[in-house]
Amino acid sequence: MKLNSIPPTLPFLSLLTMDTSSSPYAFIFACLLCTMMFDAGTCNFDNRCSKKDTQTLLNFKKGVMDPSGVLSSWSTQQDCCEWRGVKCDTINSRVTQLGLPCSTSLPNYIEKEDKSHCLTGTFSLSLLMELEFLNYLDLNNNDFLAIQFDSVHNQNYYNLSVSIRPRQYLNSSTLRHLDLSYNENLVINSLQFLFRMPSLEYLELSFVDLHMETNWLQIVTTLPSLSELSMSYCQLKDLSPSLQHANFTALKILDLSGNKFHSELPKWLFNLSCGLSDIFLGSCSLTGQLPKTLLNLRHLEKLGLRNNDLNGSIPDWIGELDHLQHLLLGGNMFSGFIPKSLGNLSSLTYLSVDSNQFTGVVSERNFAKMSKLKYLYIYSSPPLIFDFDSHWIPPFQLESLQLSFSGPHLPAWLYTQRYIQDLYIYGSSFQAPDKFWNFVSRVSQLSLEDNSIDGNLSNILLNSTVVSLSSNGLKGSLPRLSSNVAVVGLSNNSLSGSISPLLCDHKMLNGKSNLVYLDISLNHLSGGLTSCWKNWKSLIHVNLGSNNLTGKIPISMGVLSNLASLHLHENKLYGEIPPSLQNCHILIFNVRENNFTGNIPNWIPHAAKALQLRSNHFSGNIPAQICQMSSLFILDIADNTISGHIPTCLCNITALVVNNASHREYSTTLQYNFSNRSFYLFEESLELVVKGLVLEYGNNLKFMNLIDMSSNNLSGTIPVQMFSLFGLCSLNLSHNKLTGKIPNEIGNMKNLESLDFSMNQFSGEIPQALSKLSFLCCLNLSFNNLTGSIPSGTQLQGFSELSYTGNSDLCGPPLTKVCFKLPDKDRKPKNEDGDESEFFPWFHIGLKSGFVAGFLGVFCAILLNGKWREAYFKSLNDLRDRLCAWLSTI
Ligand SMILES: *[C@@H]1O[C@H](CO)[C@@H](O)[C@H](O)[C@H]1NC(C)=O
Ligand SMILES: *[C@@H]1O[C@H](CO)[C@@H](O)[C@H](O)[C@H]1NC(C)=O
Ligand SMILES: *[C@@H]1O[C@H](CO)[C@@H](O)[C@H](O)[C@H]1NC(C)=O
Ligand SMILES: *[C@@H]1O[C@H](CO)[C@@H](O)[C@H](O)[C@H]1NC(C)=O
Ligand SMILES: *[C@@H]1O[C@H](CO)[C@@H](O)[C@H](O)[C@H]1NC(C)=O
Ligand SMILES: *[C@@H]1O[C@H](CO)[C@@H](O)[C@H](O)[C@H]1NC(C)=O
Ligand SMILES: *[C@@H]1O[C@H](CO)[C@@H](O)[C@H](O)[C@H]1NC(C)=O
Ligand SMILES: *[C@@H]1O[C@H](CO)[C@@H](O)[C@H](O)[C@H]1NC(C)=O
Ligand SMILES: *[C@@H]1O[C@H](CO)[C@@H](O)[C@H](O)[C@H]1NC(C)=O
Repeated sequence: MKLNSIPPTLPFLSLLTMDTSSSPYAFIFACLLCTMMFDAGTCNFDNRCSKKDTQTLLNFKKGVMDPSGVLSSWSTQQDCCEWRGVKCDTINSRVTQLGLPCSTSLPNYIEKEDKSHCLTGTFSLSLLMELEFLNYLDLNNNDFLAIQFDSVHNQNYYNLSVSIRPRQYLNSSTLRHLDLSYNENLVINSLQFLFRMPSLEYLELSFVDLHMETNWLQIVTTLPSLSELSMSYCQLKDLSPSLQHANFTALKILDLSGNKFHSELPKWLFNLSCGLSDIFLGSCSLTGQLPKTLLNLRHLEKLGLRNNDLNGSIPDWIGELDHLQHLLLGGNMFSGFIPKSLGNLSSLTYLSVDSNQFTGVVSERNFAKMSKLKYLYIYSSPPLIFDFDSHWIPPFQLESLQLSFSGPHLPAWLYTQRYIQDLYIYGSSFQAPDKFWNFVSRVSQLSLEDNSIDGNLSNILLNSTVVSLSSNGLKGSLPRLSSNVAVVGLSNNSLSGSISPLLCDHKMLNGKSNLVYLDISLNHLSGGLTSCWKNWKSLIHVNLGSNNLTGKIPISMGVLSNLASLHLHENKLYGEIPPSLQNCHILIFNVRENNFTGNIPNWIPHAAKALQLRSNHFSGNIPAQICQMSSLFILDIADNTISGHIPTCLCNITALVVNNASHREYSTTLQYNFSNRSFYLFEESLELVVKGLVLEYGNNLKFMNLIDMSSNNLSGTIPVQMFSLFGLCSLNLSHNKLTGKIPNEIGNMKNLESLDFSMNQFSGEIPQALSKLSFLCCLNLSFNNLTGSIPSGTQLQGFSELSYTGNSDLCGPPLTKVCFKLPDKDRKPKNEDGDESEFFPWFHIGLKSGFVAGFLGVFCAILLNGKWREAYFKSLNDLRDRLCAWLSTI
């Protein structure tokens, strides 16, 4: 298990925070202003909210869906100026502002951001336009699905074409601020409604689906006062790169990031004389080089071009853009040197030149005048050569630093940086003396994954909120944690000794731990699981896998009432799983490859998603309680000594009946107070055996639906209900004592990719329907008592002989054993009078699949079966026709 690389998301998150800051502030400022005016006694309380506005707002309320009663204060009992989200003019008491953003937080385990309490449905924008004095409308982060533009008065307005500007027909609104962003399910097909809002200064539509609006640029350029435009992640496609001139007259801030334009930087952008200050075009699939016309934008303060496909070198003249505060060029294909002229950008606070193909040396000259620099991202692979004077004291104090460098020592100037909050070092190899660990204890987010750090963690106290030290060569015993630590990832190192230094030495905790995520897997830790868990009740995710831990699971682990995922795989733990764990709310339970005994726990929460007990000594029957876990996607109890029958109720596991990956994420989401929008995702991963391969499923875990009961003592027949688990991708029942026929219903399990029934006592014929499983790419029916011929003319011949061996009465290709016996009754056409309806579609499939073996198989059967032979010759012409028809389609 690996912590997701945290820092690469930080620029984005920080950026997000910065970009969105203006709107809440504007709102707070407006509120303050209003309050002040009330205090000053300028408000006329006799002048109640106008009847017309009240009615308009009530009509708006009537139209929207409000599941949590956000608008419950909206009733005629109260003056409408007092309603939630409504602000009125202090003189005439007309409604001027409507602010109903929805606040959401991410739950610890996300399926999706929970917006069930937000406003939804359709709202009528034209209705709100009837509020003649409305200048501010903010409905951001709700869950609206559509906007209605028509009011009763002006049906068909929506159908008018661009050339006939509706502005001429309809009253203009006084709206200056419109924010509909983060309504992720909102689709707006046309932006023509903007023609009615000529006063608009601020337009924020990020994350609204605008892919149908191909004219967006032409429409927004008609807004003469527009100064801030945000349409990031709107699925816009056309940036009109060759357009020479766009008529923005007041634009200061342009954010179009996250739209896949696949074009060069547009010419019109560099020809704007309106004093553009901020450009955000990150993640836009932009190509080409930085044009020199960029110098036309003399007032440019922020240039965000992260994560595009821009190439060429960073020109020297960039040093002339002396107002630049943010220069974000990371994640492109820029090459050559990082120019020295950058050092002249004395206003720069944010510089990202990471993840490009830069070469050469970086020295203090590149940063000479950057006294305001706070965020510096300068990592790449291979790392740049750092050639800093060891006595250099930078003119800046950084808050966030992400770097990679070559050489055995950290650059000495790093220790001069006293206020670093985020430190990310990547792909570097260096020595970490005690001085280093003291230095990083002040950092709140520390990510040093995938370096080769030469260091010993014994006696180190970690103090950062987020610490990721995974995949280094760290030695010694586990470090201690302070109460600040929330996330710690130490996996894939060479740490040894017991886990008690970390868990039991809680002098530094002051009685309160904030630890939610603990991953110390893939080390050489030994000893027992300790009884120190009561200090760590905040834990959500625990991974102690792949160590040398031994003993029983202590009953005291039951105090971890927030625990959602527990990984104890590949250790030497034994004993029964203590029922005290039912106090936890474990959704992912992985004890693979230990020596556990006893029954399969029957108290696992119904919400569980994955249960992995493989390779232990569990015994007894499969408890029926498993069927109540309707969200279970992974049931892996292979390689134990479980006996009895497969329960018939498995079809109650609805998650295995429908295959719908879009529903689920296996991610832990942790949210901190850094800012409202910053959170981390930690991906779950499990090692599974699918298609005969042992693979770690991380990213793709959500696409896997699996039941593995192989290598147990299961007996009886497979309950037919099991074949209604239509969502199953992999089913392994091999190495058991199962009997009975393989039923035809197996043909309904359309998602099946891997099916292993080998080493059982199944009898009867292989059902024809098995060939309907078009995704099946791994089949094993070997070592059973199957009889008859392998259904021929189908993809079943495409599997190797090894899929069928060890069934002494099975014949036909790919087995070398030829079928001499007549196929038994139910293989013959149903109608003895020669009805070919069953035979020919099947024959046809054989041809279409292009299996020569299939053809021979059919031919063989025809010669052996008189009825079929007759049918074959009788309809030869028909067949030829079909064959021709088929050939003409390929
Ligand atoms: C448009 O303005 C006129 C006059 O100011 C007013 O009578 C009419 O009701 C308004 N129409 C709409 C749809 O608001
Ligand atoms: C800028 O726009 C004008 C038209 O207003 C056009 O003539 C000129 O060529 C454009 N310049 C550039 C550099 O695109
Ligand atoms: C550009 O905007 C100005 C001011 O609103 C307007 O007078 C002019 O006609 C517009 N030009 C174009 C080409 O739309
Ligand atoms: C920095 O600016 C000064 C004054 O404009 C100029 O003379 C110098 O060449 C610039 N330095 C670089 C490295 O471009
Ligand atoms: C695991 O622990 C046992 C003793 O409990 C020890 O003999 C063995 O060497 C350890 N294995 C590893 C890989 O550390
Ligand atoms: C399975 O579902 C059926 C119908 O919903 C229900 O009656 C039955 O009790 C369930 N069985 C188990 C073992 O949960
Ligand atoms: C999967 O779930 C989503 C969201 O609930 C739903 O819109 C979609 O139709 C589902 N797909 C299938 C194949 O059931
Ligand atoms: C089924 O399980 C057995 C034993 O657990 C394993 O050897 C085999 O590879 C698995 N089959 C598939 C198709 O993964
Ligand atoms: C099927 O399973 C048997 C027994 O486990 C094994 O020997 C054989 O290689 C497997 N066949 C395939 C195609 O994996």
